[in-house]
Amino acid sequence: MNMRRRSVVAAAGAAALGACAVAPNQPGAGSLRIGVASCADQSQPQPIWDAALQQRCGYFIFAGDNVYASGAPFDIDRLRKAYDGLAGKDNFRLLRNTTPHLAVWDDHDYGLNDGGAEFAHKQQSKDEFLRFWRVGAADPRRLREGIYHAQTIERGTRRVQVIGLDTRWFRSPLRATDQHGAPGKERYLPDADPAKTMLGQAQWRWLEAQLRERADVRVIVSSVQCIAEGHGWERWGNLPVERERLYRLIGETKARGVVIVSGDRHIGGIYREANATLRLPLHEMTSSGVTHPWATASEYGPNRIGPLVTVPHYGVIDIDFSARRLVLSLRGIDNRSVHEHAIDFEQLDIA
Ligand SMILES: [Fe+2]
Repeated sequence: MNMRRRSVVAAAGAAALGACAVAPNQPGAGSLRIGVASCADQSQPQPIWDAALQQRCGYFIFAGDNVYASGAPFDIDRLRKAYDGLAGKDNFRLLRNTTPHLAVWDDHDYGLNDGGAEFAHKQQSKDEFLRFWRVGAADPRRLREGIYHAQTIERGTRRVQVIGLDTRWFRSPLRATDQHGAPGKERYLPDADPAKTMLGQAQWRWLEAQLRERADVRVIVSSVQCIAEGHGWERWGNLPVERERLYRLIGETKARGVVIVSGDRHIGGIYREANATLRLPLHEMTSSGVTHPWATASEYGPNRIGPLVTVPHYGVIDIDFSARRLVLSLRGIDNRSVHEHAIDFEQLDIA
């Protein structure tokens, strides 16, 4: 990795960007609030961005399916218009213009429903992604395949690293279910073929380098759910060898303070996984409900903590370095916390 290209976002939050239309949105260097949202149909009202603006997040993660343009056959004009539709929303525009952020894509802004490496138009789609998210000419994403990227936010002496994965560009075909719609095997079945990949070799090497950088907290952004169990939709569990590799890598690199965020599912949830490969229990927050949450969703979710969130929502990660605590919360359009879970720094091995 070229260290000079690593992005470091200044400590003073949005104000440091010089384009701040809201007041500095963090109480001090001892904390950081990160917003997380995904699944935003541009044809629908999106009041969730107003709620997110009120929270004055110091950083924001757009976790994929940021627009919907995956109808077949793929149409680049439809994707461009979808992005234009999102850009036309005043509240989204204000949030994007005033909050340091990172975006990844999922299948609906990639351009192919449940798509992976086989998608023939992925370079066209990437060009639109780079245009819409205003990725600069010297950005490393322009020099490599896919859209994976990382940024580090400095808060005093503390460092919070946000690692955005591309779970589409390189992903091998999934094994189709033998019981379409059956609970636990709705669309796909686990496939332990060691030749299949979620990230591809170049992204795996990059991820290892990221995990070896100095950081107190690391937020890994995976558009599809990672540790979630108990359903047969897209998830890392469909490629269990790759998921095990991720768990092993987190352990081998001794990465501290790791939390995963995801989207895609049209539900919100908080998950916790502990197993023999993981050095520490791993947490995941799925925030997937800017528009059209799955109101009647119900699933087994053996490693889910608490309920599925089935109302429009976004997620918040509150990192408090003084209280030594990280709180994951899922919030509705009224900004009330629908579901939250606090994790002490000791549980995350944060010094
Ligand atoms: Fe998706």
